Order: sequence, then structure tokens, then C-alpha cells
Amino acid sequence: YTQAIRGSFFDITATVEHPDQLPQQARYIADGLLLIDGGRIVSLQPWEAGRGQLTDDHQLMDYRGKLIVPGFVDCHIHYPQTEMIGAFGEQLLEWLQQYTFPVESQYHCPQHAEKMSAFFLHQLLSNGTTTALVFGTVHPQSVDALFSAAEQLEMRLIAGKVMMDRNAPEYLTESAAQSYQQTRTLIERWHHRGRLSYAITPRFAPTSSPELLNAVRKLKQEFPDCWLHTHLSENPQEVAWVKSLFPENSSYLDVYHHYQLTGRRSVFAHCLHLEEQEWDCLHHTDSSIAFCPTSNLFLGSGLFNVKKSWDKRVKIGVGTDVGAGTTFNILQTLGEAYKVAQLQGYKLAACEAFYHATLGGAQALDLDDCIGNFNAGKEADFVVLDPAVSALQQLRQGNCRDIWEQLFVLMTLGDDRNIAATWVNGKSVWQRADQEKAA
Ligand code: GUN
Ligand code: FE
Repeated sequence: YTQAIRGSFFDITATVEHPDQLPQQARYIADGLLLIDGGRIVSLQPWEAGRGQLTDDHQLMDYRGKLIVPGFVDCHIHYPQTEMIGAFGEQLLEWLQQYTFPVESQYHCPQHAEKMSAFFLHQLLSNGTTTALVFGTVHPQSVDALFSAAEQLEMRLIAGKVMMDRNAPEYLTESAAQSYQQTRTLIERWHHRGRLSYAITPRFAPTSSPELLNAVRKLKQEFPDCWLHTHLSENPQEVAWVKSLFPENSSYLDVYHHYQLTGRRSVFAHCLHLEEQEWDCLHHTDSSIAFCPTSNLFLGSGLFNVKKSWDKRVKIGVGTDVGAGTTFNILQTLGEAYKVAQLQGYKLAACEAFYHATLGGAQALDLDDCIGNFNAGKEADFVVLDPAVSALQQLRQGNCRDIWEQLFVLMTLGDDRNIAATWVNGKSVWQRADQEKAA
């Protein structure tokens, strides 16, 4: 199947080591033509240059008036926390005990996991997110349900079963041996099946015994191309707790590093209270960070230092961290990221914000060879944005002089209404017009 898409296009053509290099890598084509064949991008060029290549085989979609950007990448999210988003009043450790663990216990039921997987993936797509790195629960059936649903949609998704064997209710813990076996079975079933990949997912150091971390190390050694996904240095009480649980390690990250869990495909959510040596370790091991602004503000966890991540040359992506995060929407997440940066005197430009949400996030997940922009050969995952969906947005967009201001307005005023359509693997999988008809 060959597709042709006409509209305005914006992307970042190459990864960078410093934000000053981003404007040179940005590509904006006000009237462009994207050609797709078999789910992959053939070319992106100005309409006038490309229209001659259109043949009778091409199905042309006309999105003139819309802004098309690469599909958003959510680098950290918990699908089983969808139904507890916005739980009141607590910071991390109490929030886990009071709200999170009871809700996650529901996922022992395969029917519940199936129903919530469909709901969750629909939330991602209706918010323009085409790839995510996802936590399941401790139950293998939670991950089976999610991968099955994502496979139907041909989504590029990375997920894993939570591993935990202490400091959680009995109904959510397992032995290290059980955790190893169940994870291994899931890896063999799902890793590199179509566009799906597996992330070995110890919840965080406090719910992991040394035996469990040894099991994680063994899995990572046996399956080195699997991802490693966990939490790091989110909350000051959590950091102090890790120091008391692992007194022989020099820092929170040193616990993971000691068990050889750092590396190119390791993604650490939050990283708010890192010591200098932990930043250096993330850099030297080529590990990545998921920056989750709405979660960090909602749980009162702290402020992520974006500038430091550039200075230390540590890759970052953005994560919603639903259900501690308060939205599935990446535009709103970028708006909060801007405010977190402002509180520290850092100016998060729209160009940089969209980079973190697309190609930068793809690089943080070691997926920048497959997704993140419109370069030829990339997988055709993209989102069609309607730049102005309210009277206020129309007024404000009308005052914009260039694409940078338009993107900035989208991240400060935008939300799910701005997502007009979402395409995955060269196919339209969600359209706002359908929703409006259904309603
Ligand atoms: N740390 C350990 N588990 C969790 C979780 O479910 N959410 C967040 N935000 N932090 C965690
Ligand atoms: Fe999280």
C-alpha cells in the first residue's frame, strides 16, 4: 500500500549534543508531501517538488491547514494506573501504599487487563502518542493483554512485567526465582515480535532484594538487547530509604550499576535528586532519563534539571508517568516541562520541547534508527495537529509570526482537542472526526 500525505510538516532531522544545534536540524515545510510505502517513509518534500511523483497507486490524504509532526514518544508510563490518575494528597511512598498497590492488584484478572489495555492504548493514540515505554503489573497476564492489543494496532511499544519481592503487599510480591521465570517466559513470547519489545522492569530498588536484582542481572546478560526500565531518585524519602537498604552502595544509582543494570537501553524515570557521581555514571554508561514533569509536580517530588542533562550529556525523553502524572497528553506535558524549567531559570524553547517528545525521546529509547522524524526509511508514525481548536487558540495563533511561536502556543495552550488524527505504521488508526460522529 502506498500513501501520500499533503500538509504542513515539522520535524528534527538529526539528534544533537547541544540545544543550540536544534534550529539547524529543524525542518519546516509549509506545504509538503510525504510518501509512504509499506509502512515506511519514502520521502518528504515540498508539494511542488514532489507532486510529479504521485501515481494512480497513491492514496492521497489532504491535511492542508494542519501541522503534521512525528508521533509522540512517551518514555515512562504505567498502564495499570490509568484508573487512579489524580489520587489525592500523598507523596510517593504513601501514594504507592494507599492508592497504587490496591489498584494494581486488579490486574491478576485477564479480562480486566484486556479491557484496560484497550482503553489505555486508545488514550495514547487519541493524544498523538505512537510509542511508549510501559510498566505493567507484577502479573504476567497484564503484559500479555497489553502486547496483544498493541500488536493488533501495529504499534511500536516496549513494555514489561513489574518485578518485586519485598516492601509491597503480599498479594503483589513474588519470589526472585518466580520473577525470573515469568519474565523469561514473557521475553521469549514477546521480545522482537513485530514492532514489540520487552523491557525488564524491576519496580525500583526499595521493592527489590539483592536476590531479585541478581535475577534481573542474569536476565539482562541472557537477553542483552532487552530494555531495562525502572525508577531512580524521585523523592527525598525514597533516596534515604535506598541508602539504608543498600548501605554498601555509594548512591541510589550505584545499586543498579552494581548489578550491571545501567547501559544504552536502560531508562531511569525521574532522576530529580542525583549526586554528581550519579550524573557521571549515567553519562559513562550511556543510560537514559525519562523526565516526567506533571508527575513530579503532582506528587511534589521535585524539579528535573534539563540544563544539567545537556551539560552532562545524558539523553532524556519525556514521560507522562500516568497515574502519578496527570495527563496522557504530550502537549500538556511539554507545557509543564516549560514551567519546571522556568522555576530554575532555564528557557525550554518549543524546538527543544518537541525534540524531547519525538526524536530525542526515540534516541533515549535507542529507537532513533526506526522512529522520531520523517527521514526516508523511518517507520511512518505521525500525528496530525489542528493548530487552533478554540476561540482563544485561534486568536493567539493569529498573532504568531513563525513556526516557533506556533509550536510554543501549541505546548502552552494545547491539549487532546488539538490531535486531529494519529497514524501508525502508515495507517490512520485514530481520527477525531470519527469520535465526533460517534458522539
Ligand atoms: N516508584 C516506584 N513505583 C512507582 C510508581 O508506580 N510511580 C511512580 N511515580 N514512582 C514509583
Ligand atoms: Fe513511574
